[in-house]
Amino acid sequence: MFTLSVSEYDLLREFIEAHCGIAVGSDKQYLIETRLAKLVLEAGCGSYLELYNKVKYAEDPQLKIKIIDAMTTNETLWFRDDSPYQILETSLLPEIANRIQNNQQHQLSIWSAACSSGQEPYSIAMTIHEYCRKHPEHQFLKEKTRILATDISPSILMLARLARYDSIAMSRNMKSDYQERYFKQQGNAFVINPEITQMVKFQQFNLQNDMGMLGHFDVVFLRNVAIYFSVDFKKEVFHKIAMQMNRPGYLFLGASETINGYSQDFAAHQYERGYVYHLT
Ligand SMILES: C[S@@+](CC[C@H](N)C(=O)[O-])C[C@H]1O[C@@H](n2cnc3c(N)ncnc32)[C@H](O)[C@@H]1O
Repeated sequence: MFTLSVSEYDLLREFIEAHCGIAVGSDKQYLIETRLAKLVLEAGCGSYLELYNKVKYAEDPQLKIKIIDAMTTNETLWFRDDSPYQILETSLLPEIANRIQNNQQHQLSIWSAACSSGQEPYSIAMTIHEYCRKHPEHQFLKEKTRILATDISPSILMLARLARYDSIAMSRNMKSDYQERYFKQQGNAFVINPEITQMVKFQQFNLQNDMGMLGHFDVVFLRNVAIYFSVDFKKEVFHKIAMQMNRPGYLFLGASETINGYSQDFAAHQYERGYVYHLT
């Protein structure tokens, strides 16, 4: 095991923040050490400095991706925290379906902006199916919805696109009736049905990039990702997202995240089961 010197640590954390916005705190030396140790070996380097020089000066795009991949935290689960999905189903979808019915809006565009292995966008798609099942008069919503799911990590997106989950992933908050309705078991794997997967389009996207090409969204899930960003980058991301949203514009953050102090573009609205940020 190589040890990481303070100067190597500073070089690598600057590199990581510059290329994916993840701010590694000054007390997180162990994080870089443990997450990049394997890559130092794999890249045939004798030290963390050699790894840094290789990625910085040899302009090795594959190595850059591998470093970012290693530094991202992909922790996720089905219907995480439940309340965003309950608010979506009971409050937002009826409102949006009525607006579509009254020709005040044409479709429903949802963005899962740090989708990890897919549990978030697929949970959104299942929520829409559940809503349509319970409200046959609003069946059209399934056909009128597009869900864009993006993440910076190509390897996690590969898993998300596969839409195959093992029993450990399934045990993390997947309800048994949804499992029956929306999955087929193939050996040890649970595969999501096409009626759900076809609603979701995956794309690699770094939140540092220009969002103009992504289009406009009615609902954005930016959950459990801004927590890793610096104050300045949080402000930048919230503002860029606000510019991509249609009114009224609903933004969901993670349960431990807040927009207060970072953006004037949104205000918190209280719902029975939690709150959602609306465009101001
Ligand atoms: C902890 S997961 C959150 C997944 C999901 N939103 C949830 O709440 O369960 C954070 C995800 O953010 C992604 N991520 C980190 N930095 C990013 C960036 N600059 N642009 C896009 N995605 C990023 C990571 O690859 C990771 O999959």
